[in-house]
Formats: sequence, C-alpha cells, structure tokens
Amino acid sequence: MKNMSNTKNGFTSKLGFVFAAAGSAVGLGNIWRFPYLAAKYGGGIFLLVYILLAVTFGFALMVTEIAIGRKTGKSAVKAFAALDKRFSFIGYIASAVPIIIFPYYCVIGGWVIKYLTVYLTGQGVEAAADGYFDSFISAPISPIVFTCIFIFITAVIVLMGVQKGIEKVSTIMMPVLVLLAIAIAIYSITLDGAWEGFMYYIKPNFADFSIKTVVAAMGQMFYSMSLAMGIMITYGSYMRKEDNIETSVHQIEIFDTAVAFFAGMMIVPAVYAFSGGDKDALNQGAGLMFVTLPKVFETMYGGKIIGAVFFVLVLLAALTSSISLMETIVSIFSDKLKVKRQVICIAVMLISAAVAVPSSLGYGVWSNVQLLGRSILDFFDFISNNIMLPITALLTCIFVGYVIKPKAIEEEVELSGKFRLKKLVRIMIPYVCPVFLVVILISSIIGYV
Ligand code: TRP
Repeated sequence: MKNMSNTKNGFTSKLGFVFAAAGSAVGLGNIWRFPYLAAKYGGGIFLLVYILLAVTFGFALMVTEIAIGRKTGKSAVKAFAALDKRFSFIGYIASAVPIIIFPYYCVIGGWVIKYLTVYLTGQGVEAAADGYFDSFISAPISPIVFTCIFIFITAVIVLMGVQKGIEKVSTIMMPVLVLLAIAIAIYSITLDGAWEGFMYYIKPNFADFSIKTVVAAMGQMFYSMSLAMGIMITYGSYMRKEDNIETSVHQIEIFDTAVAFFAGMMIVPAVYAFSGGDKDALNQGAGLMFVTLPKVFETMYGGKIIGAVFFVLVLLAALTSSISLMETIVSIFSDKLKVKRQVICIAVMLISAAVAVPSSLGYGVWSNVQLLGRSILDFFDFISNNIMLPITALLTCIFVGYVIKPKAIEEEVELSGKFRLKKLVRIMIPYVCPVFLVVILISSIIGYV
C-alpha cells in the first residue's frame, strides 16, 4: 500500500519516532517529580501501583492517542474535529494543559540550572549543607533569574528551530543519563543506613496503600508519559503508517519508567541514609532531589565532577521536554492567530516568565498565599495533573469508547501488523478507565489529596 500522508514532516525511522516521543516523555517528571512522590506516598506501594497503571491504563491511552494522531495526521484540536466536529472541545481542553505546566516547569528547570552552576563553580559542599536549598528557593530574586534563563534558552531553541539538533544531542546523552543514574543509584544503596530506604522503595507495604497513592500515581503517569494533553496525538501525526504503534509504545513506556525507577533508587534510599528514616524527610516534596543529591555527591569520590555531569544531563532532559512544551503552545497559537511565529514565540516567552514569577515567589515571600492548601507551584501542578489530565483522559475514553469506537483505533494499529494487546485496549478504554477516572476525579475534587 502506498502512503503519502506522513512523509512530509514525518519521522524517517521507527526509532526516530520512539526517541522523539521518549525525549518529550523523559524529563523532570521522571527525575524530579517521581522520586518525591514515591517517597511521600508509601515507596514500594507507589511503585507497584504506578507500574500496574502504566502497563494497563497508560499503555491503552498512549496507543489510543498515537493512533488518533496517525489516523488523522493532525494535532489535537484538529484531530478531534476531523473525527467528529462536536468533540473538538476535547482538543482545546487538552491543549490548555501544556499552557499551565510550562511556566512552573521552567521554575524547576531554573533550579536545575542553579545547581549546575553551583557544581561548575565548585560549591558542591555548600549545596550539601542543611538549609541551602530552602534559602535558595525562598529568596525573592535569584530563583526568578534562573527561571528566566531556563525560559530564555528554551525560547531561543524554539525560535531558531534547532530542536532537531538538540534532540540529536539528547538522543546520545539520554542513555548516558540512564547509566549515570544507575551508577549513582547503586552507590546510594551502599550508603550507611540506605538499605532500609531501598527496601521501603521497592517492597510494597500494603498498609501504606490508600486512594491517595492511586491518585498521585495516576497524575504522575499522565504527566510523565505526556498523556492526555494532546502531545502524543501530535507525535502520532508524524509517524509513518508502516511503523508499529504497539511496539513503539512498549519502548517509550519501558524507557520512561526505567528512568523514573532509577531516579527514585538514587534519591529515596539516600533520604533514609541522611535522615535515619525520618518520615518528615520523606515528606518534603518538591525539594527532595535538590536536598538529597548534593549530600550523596558530597560523600562520593569525585562527587563534584559527577554532580556537574549529572546536572548537565538533567538539564538536557529538562530542555527536550520544555522545548516540546513550548513548541506545542506556540503551534496552538500559530494555528489560531495570523501572527508571525517569531512574535508568538516571544509573547509566549514573556507571558510564561510573568506567570512563572508567582510560582517561584510562592516558596518565599508569598509562602502565605495558599491555594487549596498548597503553595502556588503545587497548586498549578495539582490542577493540571490531578484535575485537568483526568478530565481530558475521561473525555478521550468516552469519545473513543462510544463515539468512534475502539475498532477505529484497532484498525489504525493493525495497519502495521498484529495488535497483540487489542483486547486490553478494548476493555480498558470504554469500561475500566472511565470508572477509574471518575473515582480519581471525585477523590481529587473532594480534597482527598
Ligand atoms: N513528560 C514530561 C516529563 O516527564 C513533562 C511533560 C508534561 C511534557 N507534559 C509535557 C513534556 C508535554 C513535553 C510536552 O518531564
């Protein structure tokens, strides 16, 4: 069968597609967010719930989104419209998520740049001291400056259209990041007192299970795999018809989960080692990686250099994701507005920087501002991951399950061969996922988390 539809801007190989999608998926979500959630929500039980969700729910949703993209050859808003005019609103809701995520993502990206400069200037010892991180993020100016640097670098790359170059570099660096994370993880568990933490991380303790574990794991899964926000639809639209969607999804998921797993293994046991298994230390949330890793590096032979290399790699992973986020936002507006792409890029950069400021100040001078009992950054994180993503996922499941029917997805997947887990998708999308999502949403909304 001849197929002309996806050759224009498409990927030229299946691996090219997998790497690009994995580049978007693997980012701060894996290295910064996963470990602190795992520490907070019960360790092994969180890991178990996360993996179970990834191989069932995550798999079904990612296959569905990529198939929708490839079938229509369009990005989210237009893809839903092409399938059924009445449902283009799902595309709009999906597109709103990257707009909320991007500014606060850049705040964390800024923290990474800060730590990179700390290691490059040989201040690793200071960074390992208690209170260093807190005094950094609570300062009024400095974290904002680093946030702006991160946004600026992202914007320059998007403006110059050199994503491809960055993606190439990170394709090579990503395996290095994984290897370094594995090495640090192995070192971490040999620290005095870390073994107990390692057990906490990998051994599910069912007494720690609660609906909170599921809500947090679910939000994390969407976030980490860039699901329910139109991203995978866009990537799917570039995919060639002859490439196998199912095996690609397996590869993206395995890679994404492996990076998260090793990031957790590098951080969670070390928290035990340095705090003597203190529950408060496990609960500290967003700062966990920045507080714990410098302490690990400090005890390591050559830790200063390893720290610098590590933060370079994390920065690269963060940049490939932030580029993909910004690119998505820019293309949403370029589709709608008759304005030059460059102008939109600059506008997105300035507005995002302005929106990022409160998120940053929320850890310092504005720490008394609490939204739904959360700091400003945590509030954005909660609204996007625990409310909007489940809503989009629910609408997508209803749309695919009852309007276009799972058959449409199956046919698209089968264009490139056998669809082994067809039944899983057929059961998950119309029946299991919606029920699950409603429960998750209700518990998020009534403030269970
Ligand atoms: N998945 C990315 C991570 O793990 C974060 C992310 C969320 C993202 N939504 C995205 C990246 C959209 C690119 C595009 O860090």
